[in-house]
Amino acid sequence: MCSIIGYLGINPAAPIIVKGLKRMEYRGYDSVGVATFSDNQIVVRKGVGKVIEVNNQAKLDQLAGNIGIGHTRWATHGMVTDVNAHPHPSSAGEVAIVHNGIIDNYDELKKNLQQKGYTFKSQTDSEVIANLLQYHHDKTKDKKKSILETVNHLKGNYAFVAVFEDGTLAAARMHEPLILGIGKDGYFISSDVLGFVEHTDEVIYLDNKEFVMIDSRGIKIFDFDGNPIQHQITKVSKEFADVYKGEFAHFTLKEISEQPKTIANAANNTKLELDLAADFVKHARSLYITGSGTSYNAALIAKFLFSRFAKIKVEPVISSEVQFSPDMFEPQSILIAISQSGESADVLEAVKFAKNAGSKIISIVNIMTSSLVQQSAISIGLNCGPEIGVAATKSFTSQLAVLYKIVDKICGGCIGLEFDNISESIKKILSDDSKIQEIAKKFKDVSDIYVLGRGIHYPIASEASLKLKELTYIHAEGLPGGELKHGPLALMDSNSYVIIINPNDSTYNDTLTSAREIKARGAKVIGISDKPSDAYDFWIEIPAINEALYPFIEIVPIQLLAYYAALEKDADPDYPRNLAKSVTVK
Ligand code: AGP
Repeated sequence: MCSIIGYLGINPAAPIIVKGLKRMEYRGYDSVGVATFSDNQIVVRKGVGKVIEVNNQAKLDQLAGNIGIGHTRWATHGMVTDVNAHPHPSSAGEVAIVHNGIIDNYDELKKNLQQKGYTFKSQTDSEVIANLLQYHHDKTKDKKKSILETVNHLKGNYAFVAVFEDGTLAAARMHEPLILGIGKDGYFISSDVLGFVEHTDEVIYLDNKEFVMIDSRGIKIFDFDGNPIQHQITKVSKEFADVYKGEFAHFTLKEISEQPKTIANAANNTKLELDLAADFVKHARSLYITGSGTSYNAALIAKFLFSRFAKIKVEPVISSEVQFSPDMFEPQSILIAISQSGESADVLEAVKFAKNAGSKIISIVNIMTSSLVQQSAISIGLNCGPEIGVAATKSFTSQLAVLYKIVDKICGGCIGLEFDNISESIKKILSDDSKIQEIAKKFKDVSDIYVLGRGIHYPIASEASLKLKELTYIHAEGLPGGELKHGPLALMDSNSYVIIINPNDSTYNDTLTSAREIKARGAKVIGISDKPSDAYDFWIEIPAINEALYPFIEIVPIQLLAYYAALEKDADPDYPRNLAKSVTVK
């Protein structure tokens, strides 16, 4: 989603801002812009495209001045055009803003302001913030009052940074992340620590309904009633500075390759939180588990684990669906919310419904400073370091590691967790991916791929199809094996590719039968298994392991397959089209 950044200090602002925007590219965007304050005026440059492209064309990093704001936009209101890109100046040009989120009442505010003579250039909801600040500044001639009036008239979720014509920076937060960086040479304000972590690791996490004013004399933080607020400066984890690809061609490949280590890190999680979570779950009146996309697929795996090993019923719910069943939660129930970013708007909304009904929240999350952590009674960290690739890879297996640990704790170690063995098995898969690369070549002109699995392997099939869709833009579908004859078999012909997830466990024989039925219709079968079979046109071997642990290792070859197929199709595996890493709008 959109990234915002502001800088005020002793160095030229534009190069710092452009570099910060580049570091936040992983969040997903379609256009870029920067505004700086210099010689008593605000100058805006912006355009559609990647940071590097717009910078080459518009020379964003050459804007003069030591104060500025920048933005990468992921379109919600208005097409992807130069005009709709941020920053947006007010009609008088005395203030300019960058914004992340959605202003729900922008239409009404816009009409009001237009009647008062303020003009608009874009189709965005965001531009209304600039003119509203300008209007209240015109009325009050006071920056603090103009911000207070503005935030008290805006409805929706937002974080914005504004630069005023006297060089003051201001930023406000309402349900969208906003982090202040305190550097030796200046102040930073961004939606993401990665926007400025190379300059400082000293930060203040603004709370909801707070705003900050920054000028050469320092920073002042207020709540939305105008009361001054004191915050502790905290240090961000060093790992967050680790956002380089190193020897890897792409972040996605790096993150896939990190899994032997990141699974172990997640498994070594703080005992206290795991104990607490296990205790909460044991005493819950009812148990729900939620997430979006990949995190929801982890929730589906958890359902199997809880019922098989802990004998506890858990209901998985897709976060974005919760609002349509608001009465689902009851007091004393527990909602386990899974999210890599901790900022997915759908997950936060689900959490809101659960809390309103008196449920408690356990979150499993990678970004421990996120909004989700603030909403949770207990939060368990994934501990897997920053995940930059838009497609979730290492965060998924870390989510599994935490879920397995919770269940294992409840059942007194009955799963037989062998994390060293998991890591070694994944290392084996990673050490020779030549066969996977060969198969990826076949996907160049394929239009449909099916992924089939039974039992606990069906959520893995869903996750596999999500990876293939995101990275290769090929239509992919996860199928529960038993459903084949109830419809999908009609689709199988010599143009179809079907990936069969078939480890040597209780699902093996039935799934092999499905493979044969598919092959008999002329479709190409790719078997992922520890046992070879003549039913497979291509066999991707995985090591044998305790059967409960297969999900950790069977997803890895498919992540690699999707990655290499993306390269075959000239798609950018790190930044798939139309997608964003953190989906912070509903
Ligand atoms: C996964 O590859 C996707 N990029 C997406 O489905 C993601 O898992 C989903 O948006 C949830 O994100 P979260 O875990 O940060 O909440």
